[in-house]
Amino acid sequence: MRFHVLTLFPEMIRQGCSHGVVGQAVKDGKIRIETVNPRDFATDVHRSVDDRPFGGGDGMVLLPEPLAAATGKALSAAGGPARKIYLSARGRPFSDAMSRELATVDEVVLLCGRYGGVDQRLIEAEGYEEVSIGDYVLSGGELGALVVIDAVSRHRPGVLGNSASSFDESFAEVLLEHPQYTRPREWLGLEVPVVLLSGNHAKVRDWRRNAAVLLTAQARPELLSDAMSRGVLNGSGVRAALEALEALSDGERRAIGLRDPGLVRARLRPFSQALSGSRGSEP
Ligand code: ADE
Repeated sequence: MRFHVLTLFPEMIRQGCSHGVVGQAVKDGKIRIETVNPRDFATDVHRSVDDRPFGGGDGMVLLPEPLAAATGKALSAAGGPARKIYLSARGRPFSDAMSRELATVDEVVLLCGRYGGVDQRLIEAEGYEEVSIGDYVLSGGELGALVVIDAVSRHRPGVLGNSASSFDESFAEVLLEHPQYTRPREWLGLEVPVVLLSGNHAKVRDWRRNAAVLLTAQARPELLSDAMSRGVLNGSGVRAALEALEALSDGERRAIGLRDPGLVRARLRPFSQALSGSRGSEP
């Protein structure tokens, strides 16, 4: 898969894609990153890429012509159909589902804005989809492009090792991930939950599911109803998590980061009455 990133700061993208999982995927040829600098397509002596907004106001707006030429260069390098995404605070929220869907595409063009934004006619004429990485305004699209590249690359075959598939995928997709621990077994008086040392895979898996449900109820309660309606969680799964909560020692609660058990209990109880067959979808 190849990402064509249109940016005035190609070094930000090259640097951002040269470490960790993404850096390794680039080295292995599992993903490719090309950058195109719209400034190379500026037509005046000053190599201008922006101008003042019609109607007045702060900030400069990126000119459509250099961006259209840069898009053309990316598309001819793609040599076929490509998805075109403009990173923008006004866009559709980026999500896990979107990252999985994009991972099925071979050529993706990512347009990074800067300054006061991009002339909207360029977005419409080229058919860019607008995508936001969160409800805040960044000073440019590069960080958004790096977020998209990272999240999408993880879903490409061979980019992650076995570690990614070790936890029930559909569960992890909807609920928050369970916490992890490594050596030492006891640190600052905080002990690793004993079941994780047992070697009993079924028990470990149950513990992790319950911890994921409890932590989701604490930090992102709005995800619970989504998990219930998607069948990833059901009444017996919630009851199991509530029972696990009662069985936790103080030390385990602290090690897990469950700071407000009363709140977690209150948020889960309404879901515990739901009809249930199994406790949630199995992998
Ligand atoms: N550019 C500026 N703000 C952004 C955001 N929230 N997401 C993606 N691109 C952006």
